[in-house]
Amino acid sequence: FQPKLLKSKRLLLTAGPTFEPIDPVRGITNLSSGKMGYAIARAAREAGAEVTLISGPTALAAPYGVRRINVQTAQQMHDMVMSQLVGIPASEQNARNGATVFVAVAAVADWRVVNASAQKLKKNADGSAPTLVFEQNPDILAAVAALPKPPYCVGFAAESEQLLRYGEAKRIKKNVPLLVGNIGHDTFGKDDNQLVLFDANGHTSLPRAGKQQLARQLIAEIAHRLD
Ligand code: C5P
Repeated sequence: FQPKLLKSKRLLLTAGPTFEPIDPVRGITNLSSGKMGYAIARAAREAGAEVTLISGPTALAAPYGVRRINVQTAQQMHDMVMSQLVGIPASEQNARNGATVFVAVAAVADWRVVNASAQKLKKNADGSAPTLVFEQNPDILAAVAALPKPPYCVGFAAESEQLLRYGEAKRIKKNVPLLVGNIGHDTFGKDDNQLVLFDANGHTSLPRAGKQQLARQLIAEIAHRLD
């Protein structure tokens, strides 16, 4: 039995990878499966929240009762998140819009290809390869945390080493009250994970477990911090 810890709360989250086109049939992405983010969306819904999931391309079905909006690129993810949060009069910040909690789980591409081709790139007769030019993508989590009235923001970090040191540094740099570190960089696509929670009071470890179980624990930790 899961108590309704997030009853009448709204939760907006990002999950999955992003896909940055190179041409109409090729692109750059990463190995994020979306499993952790989808598990959190499901747990939040079970806890009574109204959940909107902004998802990059994944093979997963939307959890029951969760509103999913599909996006492809980091820029689209950023714009969709912002349109869910910004410019809504306070009097209308009920059910559909606004968010009390924002959880950034997506593995967002740091760069996009600025010279993406409108046509499929062809091999050159002389064997020369195309040159891709990159530009940095917006940092969605940092942008949300910098809003005049930000929702309660939760970030994720996948560090391969010195998680305890980098986790707290990242929480402060991103300016979020709660940052969740994955231990090891081997979480992508796996069904289990091991998390460390960083907040202003220090850090707490959640032992290795299935992602759904960890998601429920994380929702309880978030709910506790909202009180
Ligand atoms: O800086 P780094 O990519 O390690 O930060 C990870 C956290 O920031 C995750 O919560 C991720 O969803 C979020 N992020 C974002 N937009 C980006 C890059 C990361 O929201 N462009």
